Amino acid sequence: MAEQQRPTTTHEITYYLNIENAKIIALFMVTGFLMYHGVIHLKYSNDTCKWLLSDGRFPGYNTWQPYGCMMHKYTKSDARMCMHYISYWGKRNHIAFLGDSRIRQLYYEFVNLLSNEPVKNYKAHTNLHFKDDEIKVSADFLWHPMVNTSMFYVYKSWLMNEPLNRPNQIITGSATWSIKLNNASEDALKNFQVNLTMIQPLFKNLKADKNTDIIWMLQDPVDENRLGLNRSMITNRQIDQYNKVAIDLLDESQAKVWSSSDFWPKESDNQLKI
Ligand SMILES: *[C@@H]1O[C@H](CO)[C@@H](O)[C@H](O)[C@H]1NC(C)=O
Ligand SMILES: *[C@@H]1O[C@H](CO)[C@@H](O)[C@H](O)[C@H]1NC(C)=O
Ligand SMILES: *[C@@H]1O[C@H](CO)[C@@H](O)[C@H](O)[C@H]1NC(C)=O
Ligand SMILES: *[C@@H]1O[C@H](CO)[C@@H](O)[C@H](O)[C@H]1NC(C)=O
Repeated sequence: MAEQQRPTTTHEITYYLNIENAKIIALFMVTGFLMYHGVIHLKYSNDTCKWLLSDGRFPGYNTWQPYGCMMHKYTKSDARMCMHYISYWGKRNHIAFLGDSRIRQLYYEFVNLLSNEPVKNYKAHTNLHFKDDEIKVSADFLWHPMVNTSMFYVYKSWLMNEPLNRPNQIITGSATWSIKLNNASEDALKNFQVNLTMIQPLFKNLKADKNTDIIWMLQDPVDENRLGLNRSMITNRQIDQYNKVAIDLLDESQAKVWSSSDFWPKESDNQLKI
């Protein structure tokens, strides 16, 4: 009996669902999606993928699924093609990574994605540079693990510089050094706040006058139980406090806060390459 029922149901479906009304249903679905996305964009932002940096889910290792948009996994040739297009449309790809070891890891990921020859990762406490004339990309890593006057002058010089000597995208972040060097003191946190307050207006000017995008990457949590004695002061409570200072200060600057890293698996001592 059951076996006979199946073909009849299929038959009924095909009876109602012919090519004409399938087109109508498809049209309704597409219009529905368009309206849904339109409303989302109106309500939240017209940035095509605002949530790329902030809201989404973490369905599995090495994947991040932002709300409201699809993530595409770029292969080397995809990424190179993308950079090619950007330069073809007259835009520059000069990206600066400024900060601590965690920012250096991003730099290595980025450069290794684009580079035809593998770039060796090592714990460089120096500046690193990458340039590929074929796809017109340059990337710099500037070692600035502390938010201090030295970091201030880097932004200041970018503001003064010719457009060609200035990155059009800056990815930055720092905190663990301050926590470690100052043994997680309250004063250091206040000092960090003072220093970032000093730099924050430069973020604003770089975006407003020079159209340079700035992304502040919040500090990822650590796996406290697996940090060695020398780093035991780097607690998640400290990291949260530094992140909070950054969020509050950067709220009214033009910098975007990259917070999705909070969802990543916690770093243990051998991953925390400081
Ligand atoms: C800022 O911090 C870096 C280390 O992160 C240090 O080399 C530099 O001397 C500091 N600059 C000032 C002005 O304190
Ligand atoms: C703030 O900046 C001063 C001056 O460069 C520096 O000595 C100090 O270490 C910085 N503080 C923190 C917490 O980075
Ligand atoms: C760092 O702070 C902890 C807790 O406040 C304290 O026990 C420790 O002695 C301090 N270490 C140094 C080197 O000051
Ligand atoms: C901890 O710090 C001390 C002194 O700064 C150093 O001699 C020691 O090698 C460090 N230990 C580890 C495991 O890094």
